[in-house]
Amino acid sequence: MKFFLDSAKVDEIEHALEMWNFDGVTTNPKHVQVSGKPFLAAVREITALFKGTDKTMSVEVNPHHDAYEDMVEEAQKLAALAPENIVIKLPATEAGFKSIVELKKLGIRSNLTLVFSAMQALQAMRMGAFYVSPFIGWKEANAEETLSMIHEIVAIRDNYGFDTQVLVAAMRNGRQIADAAVAGADIVTAGFAVYEAAFDHPYTHVGLDKFQSFWDKTPYE
Ligand code: E4P
Repeated sequence: MKFFLDSAKVDEIEHALEMWNFDGVTTNPKHVQVSGKPFLAAVREITALFKGTDKTMSVEVNPHHDAYEDMVEEAQKLAALAPENIVIKLPATEAGFKSIVELKKLGIRSNLTLVFSAMQALQAMRMGAFYVSPFIGWKEANAEETLSMIHEIVAIRDNYGFDTQVLVAAMRNGRQIADAAVAGADIVTAGFAVYEAAFDHPYTHVGLDKFQSFWDKTPYE
């Protein structure tokens, strides 16, 4: 299963690559704004870290675009910055769905974002999306059930042999990541703090303290 970092902060991404063996990055306008960098500077800096690898950076087109022609035009400019690594994030709107098809003709991969139902995911797969990103945390905050949707999306993908990868997004804790893995999701994406907490467990430290004290009371030879 691939792990992506949902961030545009270079220090976080470098840590995730070097220490956690991460597979890619997802960004959105919020993450880029929080990074404090201009949009294109952030894209260039992050893709430079991925040069020569098959790791991907998902970059979202201007969310003000209504027409698919505008989405496609901007996507071409963005993809040209790092054709091997950039995947274009498109919203789950009619224009976004149509853009998947147009970009595919141009050899540009897309990530359908802001997906909140199995039906939206199915349409993204039919149109040829490379990634489809159902948002778990947002649905949960709206008191909606989320796990069955992931199972449905994976089952639909497998029933019809779509080659779209299911990228479960907006994860809030390790339990959700493990649930997505059991459901057969291909990828998860979450913020730095979510992974940091998820990779840890208090009993690991309790156990280490205990073993250190026994170690200290035992002669080595
Ligand atoms: C995913 O690709 C999105 O960038 C992300 O998960 C958005 O949600 P969040 O910032 O609320 O986690």
